[in-house]
Order: sequence, then C-alpha cells, then structure tokens
Amino acid sequence: THHQFGDIMPLLALYAFAGYRLMPGLQAIFGAITSIKVHKGALNILYQDLTKPIESTYAANTQHSKLPFKEKLTLQNIKFVYPQSIQMILNQLNLEIQAGESIGIVGETGAGKTTIVDIILGLLTPSDGKLFIDSTVITQENMQQWQENLGYVPQYIYLSDDTIIQNIAFGVEKNKINREQVERAAKMAAIHKFILNDLPYGYETQVGERGIRLSGGQRQRLGIARALYRDPQLLVLDEATSALDSVTEENIMQAIYDLSRRKTVIIIAHRLSTLISCDKIFVLEKGAVQDCGSYQELIARNQNFQRLAKITK
Ligand SMILES: Nc1ncnc2c1ncn2[C@@H]1O[C@H](COP(=O)(O)OP(=O)(O)O)[C@@H](O)[C@H]1O
Ligand SMILES: [Mg+2]
Repeated sequence: THHQFGDIMPLLALYAFAGYRLMPGLQAIFGAITSIKVHKGALNILYQDLTKPIESTYAANTQHSKLPFKEKLTLQNIKFVYPQSIQMILNQLNLEIQAGESIGIVGETGAGKTTIVDIILGLLTPSDGKLFIDSTVITQENMQQWQENLGYVPQYIYLSDDTIIQNIAFGVEKNKINREQVERAAKMAAIHKFILNDLPYGYETQVGERGIRLSGGQRQRLGIARALYRDPQLLVLDEATSALDSVTEENIMQAIYDLSRRKTVIIIAHRLSTLISCDKIFVLEKGAVQDCGSYQELIARNQNFQRLAKITK
C-alpha cells in the first residue's frame, strides 16, 4: 500500500473546518502507521478505511448554495458549557457584527474567543441562545449552507504533499479546480506574485514534506488563499498570525485589511496592535462582552484592554 495522507484530504475537506482541526492528529497517525508498517488487525482495518477511494457522490465537491450574508451576524444570549464540564464558558453573550466590518475579539487566554468563533463556524452548538445570519436562525438544516460562505484560517496551515494549486483549492478534485478562482484567491492573499516569480513551477510547484520549503509567512498566506478560494463572505482568523514575527504579521494583516468592505473579517490576535485597523473590537470578560469600540476608544477608556495591550506588546 502506498497511500498518502493526501489521499484523505477530500474526506477531511468534507468535514469543513473540523477537518482542519483533525489534520495534525491524523497526519501523526498516518506517519506512525506508515513507519511501523502494521499490516494486520485493527490498525489495518482503520488504515484501509481511511484510505478507501472517496466516492464522488459524497465528496467535498458537492456544491451547496451559500446562505446569503448581507446585513449582520448576531449572537443572541449565547450560553456555552463544554460536554463533561460544569464551567459556563459563555454566559448570555450578545454580539452583533455588520456585514463588511473588520472585527477584533480580545480577552485573556481562556476567555472564550475560540469558543465564540467555533460557534460561528458551526463546530460547536450553543447550549442556549441563537446564531442569526441576517434574519435567518442557523440550525442543523442550513448549517452547511452557512459554512459554504465561511473561510477559516487557523494558527498553523497544514500543507499536503501536493502542488500549490491543490493546496489552495484544498480538497477539490484536480480536474474540478477552477484556476481563475485559485489565482483570484492568491492575489487577495498577496502571494500570487511570489508563486509566479519565485517558485520553479509556479502553481504546479510541489510543496509539503517532499516539496519546497516555505516560510511561516508564506504558509499563512497560502492558508488565507485557501480560505478565500470559495469566495466566502465571512473570513475568520483565529490566532492566524500569532506564530509569526511582528513584521511578517503586519504585512499579512495588510492583505487582510485590504479586503475590507468586500468581506466581513473576524480576527483573534495575540498582539492587540494587530487590531488597530479593525472597525470594532469586542472585549471579552467572564463569558460575556464587557466593552466594544475602536482600538483608540478602548485604549483610552478600558483598563482591561490597556492591560492586555501592555502584556502582548
Ligand atoms: N474541549 C474542551 N473541553 C472543556 N473545556 C474546554 C475545551 N476547550 C476549551 N475549554 C475551556 O474553555 C475556556 C475557553 O477556551 P477558549 O475558547 O479556547 O479560549 P481562548 O480562545 O480565549 O483562549 C477555557 O477555560 C478552556 O479551558
Ligand atoms: Mg483560542
């Protein structure tokens, strides 16, 4: 068997953003299975199952129509408790985001920032309260349509052992990739020129374990292009630039702020200075929104914000 981790990419993409989270773990499992070469018992069954050809009927290429997002996103009286936990992470949280705005979410580590975006991404279901897009309540039934309209950039971008173009049109069958859409996304992520001018085979250049090495900043830009490939109206960055040096972070954020008005963007960033250009920043405390304003407003009046700005300098 010569299955590659990349063979299950379409399957992972099917699980939308959950697949992005599973990747590091699965990549480790695949590495382990390959290296110990176990060809019997339960591991073998698992291995075969994961590497079974994916039938096109349930592949990620199935197109759902996007749920329109024209006016606003609303989190209404959201409560959230993790399973097997008693701690109320979000307690009567209310938040409204206008379409086209660039939004920052700040709060201490463990304040619930990731939990909020996971609810917006449909990875977590609130224990109580509702998520509205315009005037539509998000339910199990329309969740997939909503997810079609979302782009998500995590802290670490996992590249498959594939070409640049396949890594941008992630999980899409090779013959179904829309080259124009790929280039448009790469331009928005400000990595198109680099791909054309600096890579030996342009969009056909091999990346990943067996390909060329990319810097952290280049990987994140590829991740942004990946998130933009389906032309989502909402883009979510959860600590997407936190592992980069501040100069690289600033350059990447420039590309994000250039999307302003064309896309709604939610940014969770470790360094608060990253959020200076946001239209609005929400300050989280004790599972609720404590304050909300521009960077300048918050730095002038909010002690919590001032303290966070100081410790993340
Ligand atoms: N899977 C989980 N099970 C139980 N508790 C969790 C889980 N994930 C996060 N938490 C807890 O929820 C709180 C909020 O976490 P998170 O949303 O990740 O915070 P942030 O992103 O602001 O650092 C933390 O106290 C964290 O320990
Ligand atoms: Mg987090």
